[in-house]
Amino acid sequence: MRVLIVGSGGREHALAWRLSQSGRITELLAAPGNSGTALLGENLPIADTDVAGLVAAAQSRTVNLAVIGPEVPLAMGLADRLADAGIAAFGPSQAASQLESSKSFARDIMAAAGVPGPDYRVFQSAGIALDYVATHDRPVVVKADGLAAGKGVIMCSTREAARAAVRDCMEGRVFGASGATVVIEDWIDGPEVSVFGFTDGDDLSPVAAATDYKRVGDGGAGANTGGMGSYGPPYFWNDDLAAQIRAEYMLPVLREMSRRGNPYRGALYCGLMLTNDGPRVLEFNCRFGDPETQVIMPQLVSDPVEAMLACAAGSLSDAPPVEWSSRPAVGVVMVSGGYPGPYETGYPIDGLVDGLDAVGAAESLVFHAGAAPDANGSVLTAGGRVLTCVGIGDSIAAARRRAYARAASISFANAYYRRDIADVAAESVHDIQVTLP
Ligand code: GLY
Repeated sequence: MRVLIVGSGGREHALAWRLSQSGRITELLAAPGNSGTALLGENLPIADTDVAGLVAAAQSRTVNLAVIGPEVPLAMGLADRLADAGIAAFGPSQAASQLESSKSFARDIMAAAGVPGPDYRVFQSAGIALDYVATHDRPVVVKADGLAAGKGVIMCSTREAARAAVRDCMEGRVFGASGATVVIEDWIDGPEVSVFGFTDGDDLSPVAAATDYKRVGDGGAGANTGGMGSYGPPYFWNDDLAAQIRAEYMLPVLREMSRRGNPYRGALYCGLMLTNDGPRVLEFNCRFGDPETQVIMPQLVSDPVEAMLACAAGSLSDAPPVEWSSRPAVGVVMVSGGYPGPYETGYPIDGLVDGLDAVGAAESLVFHAGAAPDANGSVLTAGGRVLTCVGIGDSIAAARRRAYARAASISFANAYYRRDIADVAAESVHDIQVTLP
């Protein structure tokens, strides 16, 4: 089988690594890929948003399965165009990926499906939104309706912040057309968890859970990032919670999508907050998470190719069951100093062992993201989030030690990483204190 992975991040390297272990794969292609996917197969110089170019390449290389990592090509209809060309695609249709590409669409589906979330209102008029936040008696989260590269969610602990967020989105258009509509949700509090399953629109596999450390600094200080680390399963996770989230939060959304004629197929990502009143959905995403994929792929015991093909074909219940190990994995993201602000790239990365340490005696993995091979065969930094170092162990603490030992053995100029990923003893569930004037 020939498999094409679309995307270029740590998530795509982790998917490529796990897929490459399947006995069914003879050739792995990545578009555009990174220095990590280049170790496992061939990188094609096609942007992940070049839908026509990706479909043409998949046809000319007789790809049997395309695995679409990021949300933007899904929202552009890449899965539909691949299906039109007779190529099995793992990822939802354009219509179904609205679960991520429109926050108001997602809230409407959840409301119809009876899935608990924070109270919310949808606004298309800045004036009406400003009136709402002027009198609302709770801190809020202002969300640009459309995709905004992970930046369209603004936590507002004061009314002034909420006013500014509404103005920035709706009048300043800092997120372009994505902010023409906003969803304003009540701020809720509690530990966050990302939950993932494979679905063919009807059936949903058992789920895996991981955390995402979004802020750049230890203890949750500083700016928001694309993710500074992850671990899973989280210390508060258990089989009952997994069964509840799958049955009461994820399956009802799939049923509602099918009822509306938009069956959802691919990876379903449910982002939740565990509040004192019970789990509440923060968002659904239409793909695997980054950096969560880097820790859940090592936990996937069953064959990913079988599951992905079955999701595309609508035959998940006939496929071998999806199985996850509960052995913890911890991922520490190494970034270029300065990220998420300005940073420099082009520095050699030292300490990589053939670019990738396989899971084995050392039980550590390194997944590349903003990293690129140079002409001499070495690997250079090429982005903000450069690598994810993953440790696997019998306990969270053991996995954590391995992840940090691996990070300590890698160096590049201005490298930075958080020191408190999976430090569950020290973990505060309240990254930000909420006050309302
Ligand atoms: N981990 C957050 C995301 O993938 O959107």
